[in-house]
Order: sequence, then C-alpha cells, then structure tokens
Amino acid sequence: MKKPKVVPGLAKIFAGCFLVLVFFAAGGGLAEDKTTSKISPEKTSLKKESLKSSPKKKSETEAVKETASSGEKESTQTSEEPRDLPKFVGAETCISCHQDNGNNLLHSVHGRLMETRKGIPFEKSCETCHGPGSQHVEFADNTTTAGFHTIKFPPKLKASEANDICLTCHEAKAHFHWKGSPHDLKDVTCISCHSIHQDMKKPNAKLLKKPKIADVCFSCHLEKKGQFARNAHMPLNEGDMTCTSCHDMHGTSGVKNLKGDSVMETCFKCHADKRGPFLFEHPPARENCLTCHNPHGGHNDNLLVQRVPYLCQRCHTGGGHPTSSYDDIALLARSPKIIGKGCLNCHSNIHGSNHPSGKFFQR
Ligand code: HEC
Ligand code: HEC
Ligand code: HEC
Ligand code: HEC
Ligand code: HEC
Ligand code: HEC
Ligand code: HEC
Ligand code: HEC
Ligand code: HEC
Ligand code: HEC
Repeated sequence: MKKPKVVPGLAKIFAGCFLVLVFFAAGGGLAEDKTTSKISPEKTSLKKESLKSSPKKKSETEAVKETASSGEKESTQTSEEPRDLPKFVGAETCISCHQDNGNNLLHSVHGRLMETRKGIPFEKSCETCHGPGSQHVEFADNTTTAGFHTIKFPPKLKASEANDICLTCHEAKAHFHWKGSPHDLKDVTCISCHSIHQDMKKPNAKLLKKPKIADVCFSCHLEKKGQFARNAHMPLNEGDMTCTSCHDMHGTSGVKNLKGDSVMETCFKCHADKRGPFLFEHPPARENCLTCHNPHGGHNDNLLVQRVPYLCQRCHTGGGHPTSSYDDIALLARSPKIIGKGCLNCHSNIHGSNHPSGKFFQR
C-alpha cells in the first residue's frame, strides 16, 4: 500500500529552528503563527476584498516556513527576508507559462462551473487552489528560490492541507463524512484518486485518475483485484457493478466505508428477497450475510466462505439426523448429504422460508 509522503523528521527540525530564529528576529509571536499556519483559500482568495488588500493573515512566517521546508539550505535567501507577501496575478499570467494547465482547466468541470456555482471567475481560479502567485512568477527563472515555492503545489503539501483546499468547496455535499473516515485517517488525499489537470479531450469521469473506478482502488487495494479474479465473484469485472455499488470511499456513517448502515443493509439494496420477513427464519441469515458469504470473491460456488456440508457443520453438529456426513456409511451409500449440493439438496431455502411447513427450510 502506498504510504503518503512525509517531510523527513530532520527537515522538520531544521525548519523549526529556522522558524524560531526568524520569530525572534522579527519580534513575532506564537499566537500569530497559529492563526496563519493553515491558509484556507476561503480566507485568502475567495473573498473579493482580499484580492485588493494583500491577504492580511498570511504573514512572513508562512513564506519562511515554506522556504525552510522546500529543501532550501543555502543562506542566500536570508538577505531577501522578510519579503512582501505574494499577491494575486490572475489566470492570464499563469497561462502565459502554463498553457496546458490553463487549457485543460478551462474545459474541465472546474473551469466551467466555478463561476456559476461558487462565484469565482476563471481569472481567479488558479490561485484559489494554488494561492497567490506573484512571487512564483517573479522567481520563475530560478526554481530553487523561496519565492518560486510560495506557490502551493498540493502533492507537496501535508495530506490534511491538500485536502482542506478541496474541502472548502466540497465539504457540504458528498464529503460530509470525510473527516475521520478510514481514508482521511491514513492520510489518503483527494488527489490520490482525482486529478484536476487532465487531458480534457479524453477526460476520465469525475476527474478520476483512471478510467475505471475499480482500477483507481486497485492501485492501493491490490489484494481485492485478486479476490475479484476468483472463480466465484461479484459481477464487477463483468461491468454489472463496481466498488462504489457498496462503498463510498469518501466516508460513510456505517462500517468499512459501506453505503448501508450495516453489512446487511448494504446487501439488501440489491438482494431485497433475502430481507424477509420469513415465517421460519434461519438465524445466521438474519444476523450477517458474511457469516457464509465473502463480499468480493471466493473459491466456492455462491461466494460461500466454505463448501457445503462443512459450512453447515460449523454450527450443526448434532441433531435428529446426523449432520456429520463423512462417516463410512454416508460415503458408501453416496448419501445425498454429500453429493451434489449436499445439505442443500433438501434444505434449499437456506435464507428462510415462508412455506407453512418450511420449518426445516426444505421448501
Ligand atoms: C514566467 C513563467 C511562469 C509563470 C507566469 C507561472 N509559472 Fe508556475 N512554474 C513555472 C516554472 C518554470 C515551473 C517549474 C516547471 C517544472 O518544474 O516543470 C513552474 C511550476 C509551477 C507549479 C509546480 C510547483 C512545484 O512545486 O513543482 C505550480 C503549481 C505552478 N507553477 C503554478 C502556477 C500558477 C498558479 C501561476 C499563476 C499564478 C504560475 N504558475 C505562473 C513558471 C511560471
Ligand atoms: C481545483 C483546484 C485547482 C485549480 C482551480 C487549478 N489547479 Fe493547478 N493543480 C491542482 C492540483 C491538485 C495539482 C496537482 C496535480 C493534479 O492533481 O492534477 C495541480 C498542479 C498544477 C501544476 C503543476 C504541473 C502539473 O500539471 O502537475 C501547474 C503548473 C498548475 N497546476 C497550474 C494551474 C493553473 C495555471 C491553473 C489555472 C488555469 C490551475 N492550476 C488551477 C489544483 C488546481
Ligand atoms: C473554489 C471551489 C472549488 C474548489 C477549491 C475545488 N472544487 Fe471541485 N468542484 C467545484 C465545483 C463548483 C464543481 C462542479 C460540480 C458541483 O457543483 O459540485 C466541482 C466538481 C468537482 C468534481 C466532480 C467532477 C465531475 O465530473 O462531476 C470533482 C471530482 C472535484 N470537483 C474534485 C475536486 C478536488 C479533488 C479539489 C481539490 C484539489 C477540488 N475539487 C477543489 C468547486 C471547487
Ligand atoms: C479513494 C479514492 C477517492 C478519494 C480519496 C476521494 N475521492 Fe472523490 N470520488 C472517487 C470516486 C471513485 C468517485 C466517483 C463516484 C461514482 O461515480 O460513483 C468520486 C466522486 C467525487 C465527486 C463527484 C461526486 C458526485 O456526486 O458526482 C467529487 C466532488 C469528489 N469525488 C471530490 C472529492 C474530494 C473533495 C475528496 C477529498 C476530500 C475526494 N473526492 C477523495 C474517489 C475518491
Ligand atoms: C457487493 C458489495 C461490495 C463490493 C462490490 C465491494 N465491496 Fe469491499 N467490502 C464489502 C463488505 C460487505 C465489506 C466488509 C467486510 C467485513 O466486514 O469483513 C468490504 C470490505 C472492504 C475492505 C476492507 C478490508 C476487508 O476486506 O475487510 C476493502 C479495502 C474493500 N472492501 C475494498 C473494495 C474494493 C477496492 C472494491 C472494488 C474493487 C470493493 N471493495 C467492492 C462489500 C463490497
Ligand atoms: C492511495 C491509496 C488508496 C486508494 C487509491 C484507495 N484506498 Fe481504500 N484504503 C487505503 C488505506 C491506507 C486504508 C486504511 C487501511 C487500514 O486502515 O488498514 C483504506 C481503507 C479502505 C477501506 C476499509 C475501511 C475500514 O473501515 O477498514 C475500504 C472499504 C476502502 N479503503 C475502499 C476503497 C475504495 C472503494 C477505493 C477506490 C474508490 C479505495 N479504497 C482506494 C488506501 C487507498
Ligand atoms: C449493487 C447491487 C448488489 C449489492 C449491493 C450486492 N449484490 Fe450480490 N449480486 C448482485 C448481482 C448483480 C449478482 C449477480 C446475479 C446473477 O449473476 O444472477 C449478485 C450475486 C450474488 C451472489 C451469488 C454469486 C454467485 O456466484 O452466484 C451472492 C452470494 C451475493 N450476491 C451476495 C451478496 C452479499 C452478501 C452482499 C452484501 C455484502 C451483496 N451480494 C450485495 C448485486 C448486488
Ligand atoms: C447460513 C449461511 C448463509 C447465510 C448467513 C447467508 N447465505 Fe446466502 N447462500 C447460502 C447458501 C448455502 C447458498 C447457496 C444456495 C443454493 O445453492 O441453493 C446461498 C446463496 C445465496 C445467493 C445466490 C442464490 C440465491 O438464492 O439468490 C445470494 C444472492 C445470497 N445467498 C445472498 C445472501 C444474503 C444477501 C445474505 C444476508 C442477508 C445471505 N445470503 C446470508 C448460505 C447463506
Ligand atoms: C453460523 C451458524 C450456522 C450455520 C453456518 C448454519 N446454521 Fe442452520 N441454524 C443455525 C441456528 C442457530 C439455527 C436455529 C436452531 C434452533 O432454532 O434450534 C439453525 C437452524 C437450521 C435448521 C432448522 C432447524 C430447526 O430445528 O428449526 C436447518 C434445517 C438448518 N439450520 C440447516 C442449515 C444448513 C443446511 C446449513 C448450511 C448451508 C446451515 N444450517 C448453516 C445456525 C447455523
Ligand atoms: C435427504 C434430505 C436431507 C439432507 C441431504 C439433509 N437433511 Fe437435514 N433434514 C432433513 C429432514 C427431512 C429434516 C426434518 C427433520 C426430520 O424429519 O428428522 C431435517 C432436519 C434437519 C435439521 C433440524 C432438525 C434436527 O435434526 O436437529 C438440521 C439442523 C439439519 N437437518 C441439518 C442438515 C445438515 C447440516 C445437512 C448436511 C450435512 C442436512 N441436514 C442434510 C433432510 C435432509
């Protein structure tokens, strides 16, 4: 499984020391740093006023911090510090150097809908995500300068910072459950699965990194690819469903990112006939489908976790007729308990029965 990038501990310590020094030099305070350590586009770029006056809360410390963590070790920079804050320059300037990024964004859902849905014209779109770019432009001919790296590049940010950029606009709707979800907790980012700048002549649906949803997931959950390749599997490769038929990778209120409140509720969405109510219930089939079935794929027919009769014998050991079928007599007599569908030859309605005499699930 891919581990998200982490700034090496040592670099952090360097950055820390550097910061402290600058603090004292500039007479800065800790309280100030706290308020500035996380820039949300909302604060810096979404509001019109902040475009005229320089974004007030993004202090020098921010720029310095980015210098320090960008791997800049030479002291040549210190002569230019503290610098003015970067200012907004507009998309036209960005596109003068980044034509491809400009073109593909213009034709993407973001280029098309940011203005109508969020009131952000295309001219301001780049810096809504990347932050104000004047210093980046000024130092564009030297990629080792601190000024160049004042531009925010999401893949180089901490996971939570990168995600916060997207969540300013996307938290309300589909991503209500993102915070604290299994992916969020393991530092998976929005751009682990989505890609903002892609070729809009042949874009992937929902700005995904790969054309097929399952392939996006397999890039980390490779073992699931194996499970769906087993002889009994949910019809995913056949195109009848995909991972998101059962899961919402943005987080859910249920377990394991499942769309239903429980495993059972998830299955009932499509297998409503198994919901009942039944006149005669088989307790395990009211409790958890996964007691007997594998949800992705397995080696036994019907995705069973074990072959019949062994599956039944996990729970039924004694009884009115012997349920352990592998004694000599059963074998010699080619007992119906073990040939063909085994126990299911007679107990065919295994999920429950509505027949008046279906107590033993035979009908
Ligand atoms: C004068 C030319 C120029 C302009 C104008 C310019 N950039 Fe860049 N930008 C560059 C160069 C050069 C690179 C490094 C390219 C590379 O590594 O392939 C770069 C890299 C980037 C990166 C990646 C940074 C990284 O850490 O790898 C981002 C993001 C970016 N630019 C965004 C912008 C945005 C947003 C604007 C407008 C505010 C902008 N650029 C304006 C020249 C420019
Ligand atoms: C919705 C947020 C968003 C907007 C708007 C946006 N970008 Fe980006 N940009 C990203 C992300 C995220 C990446 C990292 C690569 C990716 O996911 O596609 C990126 C990467 C880049 C890069 C680095 C090179 C690359 O393709 O990886 C450049 C340059 C860049 N953007 C320029 C621009 C310009 C110019 C605009 C405005 C026309 C713009 N971006 C608008 C989010 C955005
Ligand atoms: C300034 C607001 C804004 C920001 C920031 C933003 N988006 Fe969006 N995004 C939108 C709007 C508006 C749409 C159009 C659909 C809608 O209203 O939900 C959209 C749509 C999308 C879609 C759906 C695409 C489709 O084809 O239906 C995806 C995926 C997406 N954004 C991912 C991201 C990611 C990842 C980021 C962070 C890198 C991000 N967005 C940042 C405003 C934003
Ligand atoms: C583990 C992969 C993954 C991660 C992480 C992820 N997404 Fe998605 N996202 C998807 C997939 C797959 C879809 C398509 C769902 C579908 O079509 O059923 C999607 C759809 C979307 C949509 C369109 C929703 C709609 O109703 O059309 C938006 C917007 C979006 N994602 C934004 C985000 C944002 C913002 C983040 C980060 C907070 C994020 N995604 C993180 C995989 C991911
Ligand atoms: C038919 C519904 C269904 C489909 C389709 C499905 N899953 Fe699952 N998945 C489940 C259920 C139910 C669980 C919970 C298993 C448990 O609790 O033991 C689960 C659990 C998981 C887990 C947690 C680890 C584990 O195995 O318990 C991962 C990861 C996962 N699924 C990934 C995927 C991926 C990737 C896809 C698409 C290739 C996918 N799932 C398709 C129902 C489904
Ligand atoms: C960038 C890597 C990455 C991608 C891509 C990815 N996942 Fe995950 N996923 C993870 C990590 C890391 C975990 C946490 C595993 C753990 O806690 O053991 C996880 C956990 C899960 C779980 C289990 C949740 C739980 O409660 O245990 C499910 C279900 C899941 N992912 C589904 C998906 C689906 C569906 C997709 C594709 C849309 C996907 N993942 C794509 C990295 C990824
Ligand atoms: C999105 C709809 C959907 C959901 C949700 C779903 N299934 Fe299915 N299931 C199907 C389809 C479609 C088939 C294939 C039916 C066929 O081939 O006749 C299937 C087949 C099966 C089979 C028979 C497989 C075989 O080899 O014949 C079992 C067992 C099964 N599902 C169990 C479950 C369980 C358990 C869950 C909950 C974790 C679940 N399903 C959730 C759609 C779904
Ligand atoms: C006690 C074990 C057990 C439990 C629990 C169980 N099943 Fe089954 N299921 C079976 C067996 C055995 C078969 C094979 C039946 C046959 O071949 O006649 C089967 C077959 C199926 C099939 C394919 C044939 C059909 O009847 O449509 C589906 C779909 C299915 N189960 C769904 C579910 C769902 C959904 C749940 C949870 C509500 C569930 N099962 C719980 C044992 C179980
Ligand atoms: C997880 C445990 C479990 C598994 C696996 C299981 N059962 Fe059951 N079964 C039960 C329980 C508990 C009862 C209810 C017993 C009672 O009411 O005395 C039951 C009841 C029954 C009954 C009705 C008995 C009665 O006295 O009402 C039959 C028949 C039956 N099971 C057959 C099967 C068959 C055939 C299989 C394999 C496909 C199977 N069971 C798998 C737990 C299980
Ligand atoms: C030839 C048909 C047949 C086969 C095969 C069969 N059973 Fe039965 N089973 C019955 C009948 C008929 C009853 C009703 C009770 C009786 O008349 O003794 C029954 C009753 C039961 C009961 C509930 C009553 C009791 O004895 O406790 C259980 C549990 C049971 N069977 C489990 C199994 C299991 C497990 C298998 C597979 C190893 C199996 N059966 C195979 C016909 C069969």
